[in-house]
Amino acid sequence: MGNELRDSHGRVMRDLRVSITDRCNFRCLYCLPETEEAANFYRSKWDAARNPRPAALEPIRYEWKPKSDLLAYEEIERVVRIAVSLGVEKVRLTGGEPLLRRDVPKLVAGIAAIDGVRDLAMTTNGFMFARHAEALRAAGLRRVSFSMDSLDPANFKRMTGRDGHAEVLEGIDQARGLGFAPVKVNAVVIRGMNDHEIEALAAFARDRDLSFRFIEFMPLDSSRAWQKDLVVPAREILARLKAAFGLVPVDQSTNPSETARRHAFPDGRGEIGLIAPVSEPFCGHCNRLRLTADGKLRTCLFSMEDHDLRPLLRGGATDAAIAARLVEIVRGKEAGHRIGQPDFVQPQRTMSCIGG
Ligand code: 5AD
Ligand code: SF4
Repeated sequence: MGNELRDSHGRVMRDLRVSITDRCNFRCLYCLPETEEAANFYRSKWDAARNPRPAALEPIRYEWKPKSDLLAYEEIERVVRIAVSLGVEKVRLTGGEPLLRRDVPKLVAGIAAIDGVRDLAMTTNGFMFARHAEALRAAGLRRVSFSMDSLDPANFKRMTGRDGHAEVLEGIDQARGLGFAPVKVNAVVIRGMNDHEIEALAAFARDRDLSFRFIEFMPLDSSRAWQKDLVVPAREILARLKAAFGLVPVDQSTNPSETARRHAFPDGRGEIGLIAPVSEPFCGHCNRLRLTADGKLRTCLFSMEDHDLRPLLRGGATDAAIAARLVEIVRGKEAGHRIGQPDFVQPQRTMSCIGG
């Protein structure tokens, strides 16, 4: 097939993120907040005079999808195979929490065996990683990204709604021990919640030789409580880290689609990445597509529309027909998100069902 997944803005899709379940065992403040403490935190930030909560924004009441709605592993592998035949090279498994699904190593092995998959990774909250790490590695997983927003168990619990700091740390160490490379760790920074830990998190990255990503808080939370004031701009994070560690920029000219602005520590161990979707959007270089757990293709995290592939997958469509549909969907990919614009509307899906 000579076709490529090229959109009308000239971008070619190379990276497919596959959510394999919308379920999660955590309740992160920026994704699926649930605790009274989380509600109080957000409530305290709205200010009737200065920063009123827009009336139109009701929380998204999320219900997990029934199992029968989720794509089977064979169906996921089929979509990946077709996408790869159209030029996709990187595949990342996400959730929800992907390790809540059974037999994930089986899916990993299936995808790793597809000719043309150059890079296979997973994003996990890490809580259950240690117990599956060896099987995942043996199945062909090469890279893993954890989410860890705090080094302080109490603050970790405030941010994720769960006790789990020790388990996540164990997962990270296990991944390093088994030779996953690089081991990445993501932290979403929320002002007033974990921004005081930025330097400590960076020191942790240096000590353990991790690739640590600070991510700006995006309006994808089920509470729809995102506020601009809660975003710590990447520029501010970088200034603090430069002052503390004297970071040096990494040359990224060969890979313009990378979302993180990368910086090394002077002694060469560990790395910092800054991901600034809100303050410095990178939509112009976006080469990503997302497949939700229930089989919908999304061309942007902030798409107002998804494209259901299930009727094709379950209705006897040929590979060629599905490929043609992918090409058509990608042609309509939006130029970029409109966070911060007056007409911005938060999509109905939270990160847990879109997949990071
Ligand atoms: N803003 C920024 N990042 C988010 N993530 C989840 N929700 C948000 C949000 N609202 C990140 C998590 C996880 C990855 C899958 O997506 O940190 O690492
Ligand atoms: Fe779960 Fe990830 Fe959402 Fe946290 S961000 S609630 S770990 S899906």
